[in-house]
Amino acid sequence: MNLAPFSAVSKSSLALGLLSASIVILLTAAFVRLPGAHAGAASTSPTQPVTYLPSISDLMIGTIQPRHERIWRAEQSGDWDFADYELGNLRGAFGRLGRAHPVAENTPFPEMIESVTGQPLEALKGAIDRKDNAEFGRAYDALSDACNSCHQALNHGTVVIGRPAGASQPDLIFEKAAP
Ligand code: HEC
Repeated sequence: MNLAPFSAVSKSSLALGLLSASIVILLTAAFVRLPGAHAGAASTSPTQPVTYLPSISDLMIGTIQPRHERIWRAEQSGDWDFADYELGNLRGAFGRLGRAHPVAENTPFPEMIESVTGQPLEALKGAIDRKDNAEFGRAYDALSDACNSCHQALNHGTVVIGRPAGASQPDLIFEKAAP
């Protein structure tokens, strides 16, 4: 029996098999390594979520700025209840911001927040409680000045805050029906 042709085929398919197997192993190794390379040496498992602390600017855009705007729009619509509600939320957001970031630009951040915003927030609360539009306007501008004084003090004077202009937030209905 002549086995030569059979063994020739068998050798080449064996070689092909080995080649594909090594490609699979190489690809698998590459994919398994990728997440580790991004997570750094300290990472334990690629499936473990990385703790994400939103930066000061993330929190400004996500929690401070929209509330500052909504307080204005609520007053413009005569919805004093919502203005009061959102002022409380703004205070809470400033508190959480300071706890999340104890230091900003080498400055104790919670103390800075309190010293800059404490008085204007108090004045705004008084204006809202008294439903006084003129007093509200002055207090709101004083709060915006407070935002800006901190931005200037902490080297971010380019961020300038003022009264919201134009229509926005169309998904919020301030003239609610029943309370
Ligand atoms: C105690 C200090 C402080 C106060 C008060 C403050 N901010 Fe900021 N704000 C910062 C700092 C610091 C940054 C820059 C953060 C960064 O980019 O690292 C910032 C950035 C911002 C930004 C830009 C974020 C971006 O990524 O575009 C907005 C908008 C903003 N603040 C809104 C406000 C508003 C509105 C108020 C007042 C209701 C306010 N801030 C009060 C410290 C403050």
